[in-house]
Amino acid sequence: MKKHSLRLLFALALLSLANCDYKTPVWEYFPNMYDSPAREAQEADIFSPNGQASRIPPHGAIPIGYYPYPYANVPSQDSLPGGDKGLKNPITKASLGDLMIGEKRYQTYCTPCHGVRGAGNGTVVGPAPRFSQSPPALVGSLVNSKSYTDGQIYHIITMGRGGMGSYAYQIEPEDRWRVIAYIRKLQAFEANNQKSSQAN
Ligand code: HEC
Repeated sequence: MKKHSLRLLFALALLSLANCDYKTPVWEYFPNMYDSPAREAQEADIFSPNGQASRIPPHGAIPIGYYPYPYANVPSQDSLPGGDKGLKNPITKASLGDLMIGEKRYQTYCTPCHGVRGAGNGTVVGPAPRFSQSPPALVGSLVNSKSYTDGQIYHIITMGRGGMGSYAYQIEPEDRWRVIAYIRKLQAFEANNQKSSQAN
């Protein structure tokens, strides 16, 4: 008996050592989960309710990296609900990094119409009929965007408005808030400029 168990131990030790050289185990116990039958997207699948291998995602499924916008069916930034009028800006204090990304996105997507400093004088603005509806300025004491909440500007960037299309596909949600932080800087810069020119 003793001899037997020693042999068994030796055999087991050999078996486990034999596995050491292989990256994948030579012996798989219950490999069912490793080798489940995978279907190609266009293949037939008898287990699927409609016979197709590609299934319809369950109701309410959200793709990775996609943030649903809760106010997508609100027609205008003026009818957004709540004190914040729409979403609350998650960036309470913009860092230099936030502003640099905001600037980059703004200069790429917004300057052609709203201008490098937000004065509404981008390169598409010029003698008619270059652009039938002039883009409004985003800076200055009388502009709407100054009194808009961040949530309202977020709504305009996400949904578009009039002659301005949506930038939801070009600018990630976090970067939209950074663009808004950058616009606030442009507004402060312009306000400072006006103050110092009045003082002179
Ligand atoms: C193709 C030109 C164009 C581009 C590019 C563009 N806009 Fe606009 N934007 C407009 C026009 C035109 C309006 C006025 C729309 C209306 O009132 O019907 C507008 C309106 C706005 C308003 C509201 C201003 C107000 O006084 O009510 C904001 C805020 C704004 N845009 C921000 C942005 C930001 C941020 C970007 C970049 C992500 C951007 N826009 C890119 C053309 C553009």
